[in-house]
Amino acid sequence: MERFVIIEGSVKLSQEELKITRTQAIPTPWGEPSAPFEFTEVEDKEIIVLPRHGRVCRKPPHLINYRANMWAIAQLAPKAVVALCSVGGIVEEDKPGSIAVPDQIIDYTWGRETSYNKGDSETITFIDFTEPFSEHLREKLLDAADDLLTPVIDGGTYAVRQGPRLETAAEIKKLAQDGAHYVGMTLMPEACLARELGLNYAAICQIVNPAAGIGLSSSKIDMKAFSDVSDEATKKSLKIALKAF
Ligand code: HPA
Repeated sequence: MERFVIIEGSVKLSQEELKITRTQAIPTPWGEPSAPFEFTEVEDKEIIVLPRHGRVCRKPPHLINYRANMWAIAQLAPKAVVALCSVGGIVEEDKPGSIAVPDQIIDYTWGRETSYNKGDSETITFIDFTEPFSEHLREKLLDAADDLLTPVIDGGTYAVRQGPRLETAAEIKKLAQDGAHYVGMTLMPEACLARELGLNYAAICQIVNPAAGIGLSSSKIDMKAFSDVSDEATKKSLKIALKAF
């Protein structure tokens, strides 16, 4: 049976959507992944979920063991890996509840382990990262969204911030000037580790709030205020991923 991995983001996938039948811990030389992997079958496919932030203890973005997560995923030899992630929208027109399939990344994180290269081999391998996501998988996701009549934004740049705090309004202005459309905290180093491991990897982002200072409705971000639209957008994103697989 073909295997597919979904990396769950900060919004949990509901058990109604995916009935998990077993879990399996996968140890790695890089330490423990965020949680045991969760297995289910949908039609004739094995779907495996990794809750990026953990299932019991919730890990903040800067403390996630991305190397262990991606290494364990590679051991499962999946046909594709779809990362779900909640983001703030930097473009005012992209309202909470919108869904995007980004095509670029700018990495602003620091202090995270970004490679499996320990400097102990005779050669240095430089991996191409011009397009940080698998374009083929991105297109499959966009086609699946089309088939489901779910509007999605095709492309855009995801700015990865260190977190766990949200940004200042001035930081968001700077990210906009840099060309970013979405801001989140988790796609790096996840995406570059996926590339080092040769995984077929793309992301679906749910815009869960206007980024700091975007829109004039409020001067503060209250994530709870957006929880209904986040849940709805995450459900739709899961359907898109399952249809694409
Ligand atoms: N900033 C950074 N990460 C986020 C945001 C945000 O506004 N919303 C969801 N993840």
